[in-house]
Amino acid sequence: MAENNQNASAGNIPAKPKPAAPGAAKPAAPGAAKPATPVASKAAATQSGVYKPPVDRPAANPYKDARVSSLGAWFQERFYAVIPIIDYLKKKEVPKHRLSFWYYFGGLALFFFIIQIVTGLLLLQYYKPTEAAAFASFVFIQKVVPFGWLIRQIHAWSANLMAMMAFIHMFSTFFMKSYRKPRELMWVSGFILLVLTLGFGFTGYLLPWNELAFFATQVGTETPKVLPGGALLVSLLRGGEDVSGETLTRMFSLHVVLLPGLILLLLSLHLTLVQVLGTSAPIGYKESGMIKGYEKFFPTFLAKDGIGWLIGFALLVYLAAVYPWGIGVKANALSPAPVGIKPEWYFWAEFQMLKDLKFEGGELVAIILLTIGGLVWAIVPFLDRKASLEQKSPIFTLLGLGVLAFLLINTYRVFAEYGW
Ligand code: HEM
Repeated sequence: MAENNQNASAGNIPAKPKPAAPGAAKPAAPGAAKPATPVASKAAATQSGVYKPPVDRPAANPYKDARVSSLGAWFQERFYAVIPIIDYLKKKEVPKHRLSFWYYFGGLALFFFIIQIVTGLLLLQYYKPTEAAAFASFVFIQKVVPFGWLIRQIHAWSANLMAMMAFIHMFSTFFMKSYRKPRELMWVSGFILLVLTLGFGFTGYLLPWNELAFFATQVGTETPKVLPGGALLVSLLRGGEDVSGETLTRMFSLHVVLLPGLILLLLSLHLTLVQVLGTSAPIGYKESGMIKGYEKFFPTFLAKDGIGWLIGFALLVYLAAVYPWGIGVKANALSPAPVGIKPEWYFWAEFQMLKDLKFEGGELVAIILLTIGGLVWAIVPFLDRKASLEQKSPIFTLLGLGVLAFLLINTYRVFAEYGW
């Protein structure tokens, strides 16, 4: 529901464009043809063969009489078209209720993503993505570059925290049924954001080019082999039969070019929808008086988000300094795979499932089940019709509990067997 935004309008600034000030638009030259109407211009387009779109923008800044400083006026003259949007955002409100706490996790995922961009850019100054130099440059960052160790540790920890926040945020929006009409695309874009986040983790894992990363990537990129045409997919991912320097180039380019581009695109969509549709309240809360009021998004909610970010930053620095990630030994394709090779924790549940279905063709069954499950999860807003009618939908709550239990139990089983 976007009810909390319904009153947002152009506010104290005149909504309708004022007539242009005398002299604002250049008078037409004597004898010049009158501006064409859209129909006439269409006809003109057919005649000349060149399409000219009809121009119906106001001739001058309709807000030019609003009282602002001269600097403000300078910007206003150039950006007057976005003033109604700023005014709309100023009126945006967030409902307050006993579950409001969960609204902070999307912002925290965003915060850790920003940290990834900044620290990733710094690491790029020294990292060399080749088979010969990757590990040495990684050790150089850790041991020689001033504060290089801190930047690398923050990058590694922030990746984990971003994934963790995205999972918490996904389940909290799921159980609050925030995906219901008209927020279906927030859910779908969020789901793709999670897939991209996991893609960052997978592609980044190989970059240090140490033994653990090398063999984990070998196992990870092997998985699609059981699919029809899977061998092609595996060689596309690896850039050949085996994990090699070619694989490193591919993972690097995905990690620093394709995935950041895609995630920025999806994030823009996700956050635009968050702003336009506003924040939802759980089903029935409004009717049963459980909404304790509304607070302004700018600046109140954002300031509280900021407090969450500060806590997140403190945690990040603490983890980076007290629990540093190891360096390991340089990857060597000829050495035997170390025992206990496992992926990053956010793939443990799927990893355990692949291990569980050990019968002939079991891997294929696991991949098919996981793919179908993922697709159903991605389109949940379109399946849960009851929630979109503002009715409780216990079947979907049970589905969410089932998925959560699958992830937690399987993740724990991997932890119990292999340790951290
Ligand atoms: C990189 C990951 C993500 C970032 C940075 C992000 C960011 C945000 C932010 C800042 C909000 C507004 C505040 C809030 O409600 O928490 C939000 C809302 C929302 N997000 Fe995400 N998100 C991410 C991933 C996801 C995922 C994985 C899903 C679900 C599959 C999702 C679904 C939603 C929904 C449904 C809302 C609307 C909440 C409401 O109106 O009550 N997001 N997101």
